[in-house]
Amino acid sequence: MRIFLDTANVEEIRHGTRWGVIGGVTTNPSLVAKEEGADFKQAILEICSLVDGPVCAEVLSGDADSMVDEARELASWAPNIVVKIPITPSGLEAASALARDNIKTNLTLCFSVNQALLSALAGASYVSPFVGRLDDVGQDGMSLVADIVEVFRRYQLPTQVVAASLRHPMHCLAAAKAGAHIATVPYKVLTQMVHHPLTDVGIQRFAEDWQKAFGLTVGLAGS
Ligand code: E4P
Repeated sequence: MRIFLDTANVEEIRHGTRWGVIGGVTTNPSLVAKEEGADFKQAILEICSLVDGPVCAEVLSGDADSMVDEARELASWAPNIVVKIPITPSGLEAASALARDNIKTNLTLCFSVNQALLSALAGASYVSPFVGRLDDVGQDGMSLVADIVEVFRRYQLPTQVVAASLRHPMHCLAAAKAGAHIATVPYKVLTQMVHHPLTDVGIQRFAEDWQKAFGLTVGLAGS
Protein backbone atom coordinates (compact mmCIF):
# COMPACT_ATOMS: atom_id res chain seq x y z
CA MET A 1 0.00 0.00 0.00
CA ARG A 2 1.24 3.47 -0.88
CA ILE A 3 0.78 6.43 1.45
CA PHE A 4 -0.32 9.83 0.18
CA LEU A 5 -0.54 13.03 2.21
CA ASP A 6 -4.02 14.54 2.39
CA THR A 7 -3.21 18.22 2.66
CA ALA A 8 -2.70 21.41 0.64
CA ASN A 9 -0.13 22.70 3.13
CA VAL A 10 3.20 22.98 1.35
CA GLU A 11 5.23 22.95 4.59
CA GLU A 12 3.58 19.71 5.72
CA ILE A 13 4.37 18.16 2.35
CA ARG A 14 7.94 19.44 2.51
CA HIS A 15 8.41 17.77 5.91
CA GLY A 16 6.55 14.57 5.02
CA THR A 17 8.48 13.98 1.81
CA ARG A 18 11.81 14.08 3.69
CA TRP A 19 10.99 10.68 5.17
CA GLY A 20 10.88 9.14 1.69
CA VAL A 21 7.53 7.45 2.34
CA ILE A 22 5.09 9.76 0.56
CA GLY A 23 3.91 8.48 -2.82
CA GLY A 24 1.55 11.32 -3.67
CA VAL A 25 -0.75 14.06 -2.40
CA THR A 26 -4.50 14.56 -2.33
CA THR A 27 -6.13 17.96 -1.92
CA ASN A 28 -9.73 19.06 -1.97
CA PRO A 29 -11.41 22.50 -2.06
CA SER A 30 -11.76 22.61 1.75
CA LEU A 31 -8.09 21.79 2.28
CA VAL A 32 -7.03 24.42 -0.26
CA ALA A 33 -9.36 27.01 1.36
CA LYS A 34 -7.67 26.38 4.74
CA GLU A 35 -4.40 27.73 3.31
CA GLU A 36 -5.42 31.37 3.52
CA GLY A 37 -3.79 33.68 1.03
CA ALA A 38 -2.23 30.88 -1.00
CA ASP A 39 -2.58 31.04 -4.76
CA PHE A 40 -4.16 27.73 -5.86
CA LYS A 41 -2.07 27.26 -9.00
CA GLN A 42 1.19 28.27 -7.30
CA ALA A 43 0.48 25.93 -4.37
CA ILE A 44 -0.28 22.98 -6.68
CA LEU A 45 2.83 23.66 -8.78
CA GLU A 46 4.99 23.79 -5.65
CA ILE A 47 3.48 20.53 -4.39
CA CYS A 48 4.14 18.94 -7.80
CA SER A 49 7.78 20.00 -7.56
CA LEU A 50 8.12 18.31 -4.16
CA VAL A 51 6.33 15.05 -4.98
CA ASP A 52 7.18 12.64 -7.80
CA GLY A 53 3.89 10.76 -7.60
CA PRO A 54 0.32 11.83 -8.29
CA VAL A 55 -0.92 15.19 -6.97
CA CYS A 56 -4.71 15.35 -6.91
CA ALA A 57 -6.45 18.68 -7.53
CA GLU A 58 -10.24 18.91 -7.60
CA VAL A 59 -12.62 20.54 -10.06
CA LEU A 60 -15.38 22.83 -8.79
CA SER A 61 -17.71 22.88 -11.80
CA GLY A 62 -21.02 21.04 -11.73
CA ASP A 63 -21.71 20.23 -15.39
CA ALA A 64 -19.72 17.75 -17.44
CA ASP A 65 -18.43 20.14 -20.11
CA SER A 66 -17.16 22.64 -17.55
CA MET A 67 -15.59 19.81 -15.50
CA VAL A 68 -13.74 18.64 -18.60
CA ASP A 69 -12.51 22.18 -19.39
CA GLU A 70 -11.39 22.68 -15.78
CA ALA A 71 -9.72 19.26 -15.71
CA ARG A 72 -7.83 19.94 -18.94
CA GLU A 73 -6.56 23.22 -17.49
CA LEU A 74 -5.47 21.52 -14.21
CA ALA A 75 -3.81 18.64 -16.07
CA SER A 76 -1.81 21.11 -18.20
CA TRP A 77 -0.07 22.49 -15.08
CA ALA A 78 2.20 19.48 -14.44
CA PRO A 79 2.55 15.89 -15.71
CA ASN A 80 1.78 14.33 -12.30
CA ILE A 81 -1.56 16.06 -11.75
CA VAL A 82 -4.56 13.80 -11.25
CA VAL A 83 -7.94 15.50 -11.48
CA LYS A 84 -10.40 14.85 -8.68
CA ILE A 85 -14.02 14.70 -9.77
CA PRO A 86 -17.07 14.08 -7.55
CA ILE A 87 -19.10 10.97 -8.40
CA THR A 88 -22.24 12.36 -10.01
CA PRO A 89 -23.77 11.68 -13.44
CA SER A 90 -21.86 14.71 -14.78
CA GLY A 91 -18.72 13.52 -13.00
CA LEU A 92 -18.91 10.13 -14.71
CA GLU A 93 -19.49 11.78 -18.09
CA ALA A 94 -16.48 14.03 -17.55
CA ALA A 95 -14.29 11.17 -16.28
CA SER A 96 -15.02 9.02 -19.31
CA ALA A 97 -14.25 11.92 -21.69
CA LEU A 98 -10.99 12.60 -19.84
CA ALA A 99 -10.03 8.91 -19.91
CA ARG A 100 -10.28 9.02 -23.70
CA ASP A 101 -7.75 11.89 -23.58
CA ASN A 102 -5.49 9.95 -21.17
CA ILE A 103 -6.08 12.47 -18.39
CA LYS A 104 -5.97 10.69 -15.05
CA THR A 105 -8.88 11.12 -12.65
CA ASN A 106 -9.60 10.33 -9.02
CA LEU A 107 -13.34 9.93 -8.51
CA THR A 108 -14.08 11.34 -5.09
CA LEU A 109 -16.79 11.47 -2.45
CA CYS A 110 -17.39 7.75 -2.91
CA PHE A 111 -19.83 6.26 -0.41
CA SER A 112 -20.98 3.03 -2.08
CA VAL A 113 -19.62 0.06 -4.04
CA ASN A 114 -21.93 0.95 -6.93
CA GLN A 115 -20.41 4.43 -7.16
CA ALA A 116 -16.94 2.86 -7.18
CA LEU A 117 -17.92 0.34 -9.86
CA LEU A 118 -19.35 3.09 -12.10
CA SER A 119 -16.19 5.14 -11.58
CA ALA A 120 -14.01 2.22 -12.67
CA LEU A 121 -16.18 1.55 -15.72
CA ALA A 122 -15.95 5.24 -16.67
CA GLY A 123 -12.17 4.86 -16.77
CA ALA A 124 -11.15 6.49 -13.48
CA SER A 125 -7.54 5.87 -12.48
CA TYR A 126 -8.45 6.13 -8.78
CA VAL A 127 -11.56 6.06 -6.64
CA SER A 128 -11.69 7.50 -3.13
CA PRO A 129 -14.06 5.96 -0.58
CA PHE A 130 -14.38 8.37 2.40
CA VAL A 131 -13.98 6.16 5.45
CA GLY A 132 -14.19 8.72 8.27
CA ARG A 133 -17.28 10.44 6.92
CA LEU A 134 -19.13 7.09 6.80
CA ASP A 135 -17.97 6.27 10.33
CA ASP A 136 -19.31 9.70 11.36
CA VAL A 137 -22.83 8.71 10.33
CA GLY A 138 -22.68 5.29 11.98
CA GLN A 139 -21.68 3.20 8.94
CA ASP A 140 -18.57 1.04 8.69
CA GLY A 141 -16.37 3.04 6.33
CA MET A 142 -13.58 0.48 6.15
CA SER A 143 -15.91 -2.34 5.09
CA LEU A 144 -16.70 -0.19 2.03
CA VAL A 145 -12.98 -0.11 1.18
CA ALA A 146 -12.75 -3.92 1.56
CA ASP A 147 -15.87 -4.46 -0.59
CA ILE A 148 -14.58 -2.21 -3.39
CA VAL A 149 -11.18 -3.95 -3.34
CA GLU A 150 -12.92 -7.34 -3.58
CA VAL A 151 -15.14 -6.32 -6.51
CA PHE A 152 -12.27 -4.67 -8.42
CA ARG A 153 -10.13 -7.80 -7.91
CA ARG A 154 -12.89 -10.15 -8.99
CA TYR A 155 -13.42 -8.28 -12.26
CA GLN A 156 -9.77 -7.27 -12.69
CA LEU A 157 -10.64 -3.59 -12.84
CA PRO A 158 -7.43 -1.53 -12.91
CA THR A 159 -8.79 1.45 -10.93
CA GLN A 160 -6.84 1.95 -7.70
CA VAL A 161 -8.63 2.29 -4.38
CA VAL A 162 -7.62 5.31 -2.29
CA ALA A 163 -8.78 4.93 1.33
CA ALA A 164 -9.60 8.56 2.14
CA SER A 165 -11.01 10.58 5.02
CA LEU A 166 -8.72 8.68 7.37
CA ARG A 167 -8.63 10.16 10.85
CA HIS A 168 -6.16 8.08 12.90
CA PRO A 169 -3.39 5.45 12.60
CA MET A 170 -5.80 2.52 13.11
CA HIS A 171 -7.61 3.62 9.95
CA CYS A 172 -4.32 3.30 8.08
CA LEU A 173 -3.66 -0.19 9.42
CA ALA A 174 -7.20 -1.27 8.56
CA ALA A 175 -6.87 0.18 5.04
CA ALA A 176 -3.71 -1.88 4.50
CA LYS A 177 -5.46 -5.04 5.74
CA ALA A 178 -8.47 -4.31 3.53
CA GLY A 179 -6.20 -4.23 0.47
CA ALA A 180 -6.43 -0.52 -0.38
CA HIS A 181 -3.82 0.46 -2.97
CA ILE A 182 -3.32 3.82 -1.29
CA ALA A 183 -4.12 5.40 2.08
CA THR A 184 -4.24 9.18 2.02
CA VAL A 185 -3.56 10.58 5.48
CA PRO A 186 -3.44 14.02 7.09
CA TYR A 187 0.05 15.08 8.21
CA LYS A 188 -0.97 14.59 11.86
CA VAL A 189 -1.83 10.94 11.20
CA LEU A 190 1.48 10.42 9.37
CA THR A 191 3.38 11.64 12.43
CA GLN A 192 1.20 9.51 14.74
CA MET A 193 2.07 6.45 12.64
CA VAL A 194 5.81 6.73 13.30
CA HIS A 195 5.70 7.35 17.03
CA HIS A 196 5.59 4.64 19.68
CA PRO A 197 6.22 5.29 23.39
CA LEU A 198 8.35 2.15 23.69
CA THR A 199 10.64 3.40 20.89
CA ASP A 200 11.16 6.66 22.84
CA VAL A 201 11.77 4.77 26.12
CA GLY A 202 14.17 2.41 24.31
CA ILE A 203 16.23 5.26 22.84
CA GLN A 204 16.41 6.95 26.25
CA ARG A 205 17.55 3.73 27.93
CA PHE A 206 20.23 2.98 25.29
CA ALA A 207 21.61 6.51 25.73
CA GLU A 208 21.64 6.27 29.55
CA ASP A 209 23.31 2.83 29.53
CA TRP A 210 25.93 4.06 27.08
CA GLN A 211 26.59 7.13 29.19
CA LYS A 212 26.95 5.05 32.39
CA ALA A 213 29.41 2.67 30.74
CA PHE A 214 31.49 5.12 28.71
CA GLY A 215 30.72 8.51 30.26
CA LEU A 216 29.85 10.01 26.90
CA THR A 217 26.70 11.94 26.24
CA VAL A 218 25.06 10.83 23.03
CA GLY A 219 22.33 12.62 21.13
CA LEU A 220 18.83 11.53 22.15
CA ALA A 221 16.95 10.71 19.00
CA GLY A 222 13.20 10.52 18.85
CA SER A 223 12.23 13.87 17.38
C1 E4P B 1 -9.57 12.77 0.19
O1 E4P B 1 -9.15 12.81 -0.92
C2 E4P B 1 -10.19 13.89 0.91
O2 E4P B 1 -9.42 15.04 0.63
C3 E4P B 1 -10.15 13.74 2.41
O3 E4P B 1 -9.60 12.50 2.77
C4 E4P B 1 -11.40 14.08 3.11
O4 E4P B 1 -11.20 13.89 4.50
P1 E4P B 1 -12.19 14.47 5.61
O5 E4P B 1 -13.45 13.66 5.58
O6 E4P B 1 -11.45 14.30 6.89
O7 E4P B 1 -12.45 15.91 5.26
